Amino acid sequence: MHFSLQLTMLFAVSTLAILPNPTAIEALKLTQEEGMELSELRETVEEIEMVDGHCHNLVEFDSNSITGGFVQAFTVGAFADADAIAFAQTSLSFKKGLRDVAELYGTEVSLQGVEEYRRVSGLQSITSTCLKAAKISAILIDDGIQMDKKNEIEWHKNFIPFAGRILRTERVAEQILEQGLSNGSSWTIDSFTEAYVSKLRSVAKEIYALKSIVAYYGGLEINLNVTKTEAEESLRQVLINATKPIYILHHRNLVDYLFLQSLEIALSYDLPMQIHTGFGDRLLDLRKSNPLHFRSVLEDQRYSKCRFVFLHASHPFSKEASYLASVYSQVYLDFGLAIPKLSMHGMISAVKDLLTLAPIHKVMFSTDAYTFPETFYLGAKNSREVVFSVLRDAYIDGELLISEAVEAAKDILARNAIRFYKISSSNITVP
Ligand SMILES: *[C@@H]1O[C@H](CO)[C@@H](O)[C@H](O)[C@H]1NC(C)=O
Ligand SMILES: *[C@@H]1O[C@H](CO)[C@@H](O)[C@H](O)[C@H]1NC(C)=O
Ligand SMILES: *[C@@H]1O[C@H](CO)[C@@H](O)[C@H](O)[C@H]1NC(C)=O
Ligand SMILES: *[C@@H]1O[C@H](CO)[C@@H](O)[C@H](O)[C@H]1NC(C)=O
Repeated sequence: MHFSLQLTMLFAVSTLAILPNPTAIEALKLTQEEGMELSELRETVEEIEMVDGHCHNLVEFDSNSITGGFVQAFTVGAFADADAIAFAQTSLSFKKGLRDVAELYGTEVSLQGVEEYRRVSGLQSITSTCLKAAKISAILIDDGIQMDKKNEIEWHKNFIPFAGRILRTERVAEQILEQGLSNGSSWTIDSFTEAYVSKLRSVAKEIYALKSIVAYYGGLEINLNVTKTEAEESLRQVLINATKPIYILHHRNLVDYLFLQSLEIALSYDLPMQIHTGFGDRLLDLRKSNPLHFRSVLEDQRYSKCRFVFLHASHPFSKEASYLASVYSQVYLDFGLAIPKLSMHGMISAVKDLLTLAPIHKVMFSTDAYTFPETFYLGAKNSREVVFSVLRDAYIDGELLISEAVEAAKDILARNAIRFYKISSSNITVP
């Protein structure tokens, strides 16, 4: 694997040399001993087998969900629009990502070169190449995105020692409603809630977390006082002339009502709840996905023992997320999607923001990979580079001893997720 960590380190030293104040330069120059210590951190970060707490299924090449070729891997959201795909080619993240992938495949650095390699090699071969190079020992898959020719979770175990499932709750509700359409069930709020809750219970012991995209479905502000009558009226609206696929997205009372049911299940099975926060695609109103809106749930004593993880570094609300993790014991943070989709500056500052207040034990890596195997590779590679850079700076700034930085790397890249999701399997070794 080729990391530019060494480069990153040289770069840090050389930028220090242009600081105007000579005493600052003296103070910041790395001694030989410090350089050696940093190489220990670099080795840890490069070698560690990472645990990916949040990703999605890979799909076959001829899936209808791929509309823009390989460039689509550099847009955000499973349903990229044509404009987003066209413009993605001039983003910083695409420029770097294309070079990284071309280097991995040994092709020329061009979209055509990489596309040709992919076509000739096939999905199995590139998945194997990407996942080997990613050095990820475990993945947790949210399989609730509707995608054409999606590979099942089992299929991913051909390439990774451990694969577990995350259950997307809104999708479960919609599937039950869709089945009702097919078999002629006419739901009442009671019969529907019962079907929903028993579905969650029936899989609770086989999954590692619940996941909610309530941020997409009207925002993170949950109405804890929603009544059954309100939910019932909302359900009635969903079912008027309903056709498949059903989306409950514009039926907020029902969304809130089901969210509260999900929290009860999370509590009774001690399952963590992943929460989409921050950026996404155009379906999302970013104003409403600031995690500060989640306060009603966080303040409610009934849910104080739930374990929430805010996904995507809550970008651009990373500082807010960090604050919440520092004041609420039930809040944890995950930086997948922010890495690898942002520019290098964006990725480094997102992780630095998360660590401004949040304990190291609450901050976790994931790739949020989906559809394209390269997204696993780029998520893993960029996370190693970014975590090295952030912890190196914490060392240089005198915040962490090198031994502490090494432990922090192991926590952020693997151990926090193993603990948080209670992954215990002989398939993986805890670093
Ligand atoms: C662990 O590895 C075994 C053997 O390769 C495999 O059959 C099993 O599905 C894996 N377990 C998980 C949860 O991935
Ligand atoms: C229809 O499907 C739902 C959801 O799977 C199920 O709960 C319900 O019992 C089914 N009804 C009939 C009449 O089969
Ligand atoms: C819910 O209702 C209680 C009592 O009626 C009230 O004090 C509280 O502010 C309400 N909460 C929300 C989030 O509306
Ligand atoms: C539902 O369909 C019926 C019959 O086609 C139509 O008369 C009615 O206006 C529709 N209702 C809504 C809310 O779309």
